[in-house]
Amino acid sequence: MTGRLLVVGAVNVDMVVMAQRLPGPGETVVGKDLQRHGGGKGANSAVAAVRSGAEVRYVGAVGDDEFGRTALAELRAEGIDIADVTIKEDVATGAALIVVDSTGENQIAVAAGANAAITAKDVGTALARADGWPGCVLVSTEISTEAVISVVEGAFERGWPCVLNPAPAISCIRQLLDLSPILTPNQGELHDIYHLLGGTGGATVESAAAMLAVRTGAPVVVTLGADGVLVCDAHGVSTRIPARPTYCVTDTTGAGDTFNGVFTACLAAGQDILSAARRGVTAAALSVETAGARTSMPRASAIDAALATADHVSP
Ligand code: RIB
Repeated sequence: MTGRLLVVGAVNVDMVVMAQRLPGPGETVVGKDLQRHGGGKGANSAVAAVRSGAEVRYVGAVGDDEFGRTALAELRAEGIDIADVTIKEDVATGAALIVVDSTGENQIAVAAGANAAITAKDVGTALARADGWPGCVLVSTEISTEAVISVVEGAFERGWPCVLNPAPAISCIRQLLDLSPILTPNQGELHDIYHLLGGTGGATVESAAAMLAVRTGAPVVVTLGADGVLVCDAHGVSTRIPARPTYCVTDTTGAGDTFNGVFTACLAAGQDILSAARRGVTAAALSVETAGARTSMPRASAIDAALATADHVSP
């Protein structure tokens, strides 16, 4: 599978503590040794996509510091084209402080750093350079608002399919809905967007996704963790795709990024939305088996093998 994919998003260095449980407000928990991993939702998705067989160009920013140089070396080593990563003076590379508990659940605080300094001009330059190149664009919202808007508008103007991972669910999403992005929120983000749009009361995942899909005129894919994904088509009709059973959940950090990277890579390669979601969900399940967002992100052969043994039923 060789879809061409332009990924725009955050690159971070992740500082991770594995602890028995997550701290509450004002509480200290003591864990094991500090681990340092490559992270950032955009960079993680780019790695997942390239490992799954896509060609990937990455658009983002790092600071002129050691974290930034390491992050770029890691992306380059994966085979990702990083010519459109801007090095920002006087601002640090993004960093995430992460605690992971014994069930693999996490808590994350991000210092956006250079990710917040990506400009509309940076994006415009990268999109112009990519003219005629990508089969699909993937953008996540851990970067400046102006960058997110430029990506979705630029993709729309060029007729490129655009997957918008609203993580986090920032308010500018409202103004982008008429540009028909394919939204991939998790359940919490879906809830936030539903309320941003004036939704009231206790909507189900199905009804909130349907409201959003009818509004965008595009599919909405809701990631549901261990419950897989819900794919809602542009008419509001939903299909649930269960997750592959995972016997060893060590760290769920980056599972959503893995889904987004593989799902969008499949769309870029011309797969239909349900096949793309099935492949994404399978890759995400494989990605939680070791610590670190990218450590167990699978290659195409591992996804193929898991799909061959899985019993994915689409009701
Ligand atoms: O989705 C996981 C990512 O969120 C981590 O890698 C961290 O950097 C934060 O951006």
